[in-house]
Amino acid sequence: MELNRIYHENCIDTLARMADDAIDMTITSPPYDDLREYNGYHFPVEEIAAGLFQKTKPGGVVIWVVGDRTVNGGETLTSFRHAIAFKDAGFNVHDTMIYAKNNPIPSDCGKRYRQCFEYMFCFAKGKPETFNPLTVALKQEKAFKSFRITKVGRNDLAHDHVAPKERKVNKSFLYNVGTSSSRDKIAFQHPAIFPEKLVEDQITTWTNEGDLVYDCFMGSGTTAKVAHLLGRNWLGSEVSAEYVDLAERRLSLHLDAIPVAA
Ligand SMILES: C[S@@+](CC[C@H](N)C(=O)[O-])C[C@H]1O[C@@H](n2cnc3c(N)ncnc32)[C@H](O)[C@@H]1O
Repeated sequence: MELNRIYHENCIDTLARMADDAIDMTITSPPYDDLREYNGYHFPVEEIAAGLFQKTKPGGVVIWVVGDRTVNGGETLTSFRHAIAFKDAGFNVHDTMIYAKNNPIPSDCGKRYRQCFEYMFCFAKGKPETFNPLTVALKQEKAFKSFRITKVGRNDLAHDHVAPKERKVNKSFLYNVGTSSSRDKIAFQHPAIFPEKLVEDQITTWTNEGDLVYDCFMGSGTTAKVAHLLGRNWLGSEVSAEYVDLAERRLSLHLDAIPVAA
């Protein structure tokens, strides 16, 4: 299968032609709860989960970004239905992260706080092989003594501890949405683009240069753009001709930026 291109088709068809155990990472956001029309296309989550399981390498991951709509006063729980479908397909639900929005679309949520996040599930085929964690620096860098408080007072232990200089970031990630989520004005012709930083953080965490990143719902091409700029190979499926054209025009602004890793 030719790499670094968007296939204008249903992802079920792309997956059917792909070699088994080919993908290092999928990062995607499905059309959920008919929140947007997307030219009338629908998708069967169980079939897609099964296809992704077959085509993901052992140790590879799927980052599935999804939320819930509120219907008749209650949340649909679509996100958790999807998580169960992926578990049933054979994936390990490795982690549930939060994609929080710094500037969510203003809306009146009735007797609820303002909706400002989506789930970012990490489904792994077995245990994730690659994990390059994002970290934050810690202030305390001096060695410190460990001690125990006993009945007779403080009892210093023999060894010193060196405090860690950094720690992994929390699993709740905060991003700007809307116009500051990409510098490509053209991207906003699509109604639901990923913040580029979200895609960058996840691709950096779960893959290395030259790995293959797939997006089964490519939309405006955010995954392709970021994967390319990070030196990863990529593949995408997008069922709407209008969005394939949009993503290709967007990508043409960046494909010369650096060579794609071999
Ligand atoms: C939430 S959007 C993805 C947006 C994308 N993350 C971005 O940054 O632009 C979902 C996309 O999936 C496409 N789509 C829906 N069903 C599909 C299917 N079965 N196969 C491939 N694409 C599909 C829609 O046309 C839509 O563009």
